[in-house]
Amino acid sequence: MNVQVDARSIGKVENADGLLARNARLQPGDPVQVRVRRFDAGEAGAPRFESFIVPYDTAMRVLDALNYIAENFATDLAYRWLCGTKMCGTCAVRMNGREVLACWEAVEPDMTIEPLRNLPVIRDLVVDRRPYEDRVAGFEPWLERPSAYPGFPEPLSHKDMKNASKALDCISCMSCFSACPVIGLGGLTDFAGPAPLVQLAQTALDARNDPAKVARALEHAGIFNCLSCYKCEEVCPAKIPIVTRVIEPLKAKTAELVPHVAKHAMAFRAIVAARGRIDPSELVLRVQGPKVLLQIGRALRLLLRGKIDPFKTLFRKPTAAAKAAARLLGKSRSVS
Ligand code: SF4
Ligand code: SF4
Ligand code: FES
Repeated sequence: MNVQVDARSIGKVENADGLLARNARLQPGDPVQVRVRRFDAGEAGAPRFESFIVPYDTAMRVLDALNYIAENFATDLAYRWLCGTKMCGTCAVRMNGREVLACWEAVEPDMTIEPLRNLPVIRDLVVDRRPYEDRVAGFEPWLERPSAYPGFPEPLSHKDMKNASKALDCISCMSCFSACPVIGLGGLTDFAGPAPLVQLAQTALDARNDPAKVARALEHAGIFNCLSCYKCEEVCPAKIPIVTRVIEPLKAKTAELVPHVAKHAMAFRAIVAARGRIDPSELVLRVQGPKVLLQIGRALRLLLRGKIDPFKTLFRKPTAAAKAAARLLGKSRSVS
């Protein structure tokens, strides 16, 4: 029999982490240990954990356990949900350190439930979504056509819309924003984060949008701060290929429409294509130009530690991988 395996479930099966396996771990009536992080931004006091025991019921989800706690033990427990069917994205929390939709995730025998990271906590499991909403609003995420509406049906192909249509599956749950390590650095970068970029992609990757408007939004997205670590994709309940179908195409669009923002990435790519490896000193020279002379003391320290080799930079010696790199990067449209 030919069994189709979803690439995202690899590892889950081996670790008995799939939905069926988790539902099979508990029998109706079994105790489910739930530790919930409690905190009220309006009151003095540090966050604390409160423990509850909830009786398991068939196919119980995290949201069912929270509802049971709110109905039986802690009537003041704050948490959000609306649809109960993986549609509205309001119920995202962290369960045992992983971002999940409470209405969709099967309970574990022992669970710690916490609010999403990287957003201010208002109370208990409720976070303030304003940082995300402000960022999205700043992108002006709507279409502005450079030419008049041609009438229905519009001449659009699947290829024209292949990336934007993936982004349109987003339910704004913010799980990816919580999981992103660059957003976790706080104000150290100007990176907009995966969730706002997915919203931006819905119109920026739409072939009908005015490139000048797309350029205005991309200029302030800090997109080249993304590490391509795929943490966002791992937790996305809508299974959006955030890196490959949103961030990489947006990087390519930034390089095309706002090349000065992509200077570092383009220099990195050009060096690897020419020499088969990165050369840190050439990269700094290309990006900073003559300004690099202002950092001569730092350059000397790096030289003494063997971190840079001016001879290799000067003579631009290619490595054995140079030909293959040039072939690959010549074909690839990615700029990261
Ligand atoms: S791939 Fe980029 S956006 Fe996604 S979690 Fe990593 S750094 Fe954040
Ligand atoms: S991209 Fe996925 S994880 Fe991020 S907000 Fe949208 S649905 Fe949630
Ligand atoms: S309650 Fe709507 S997605 Fe969970």
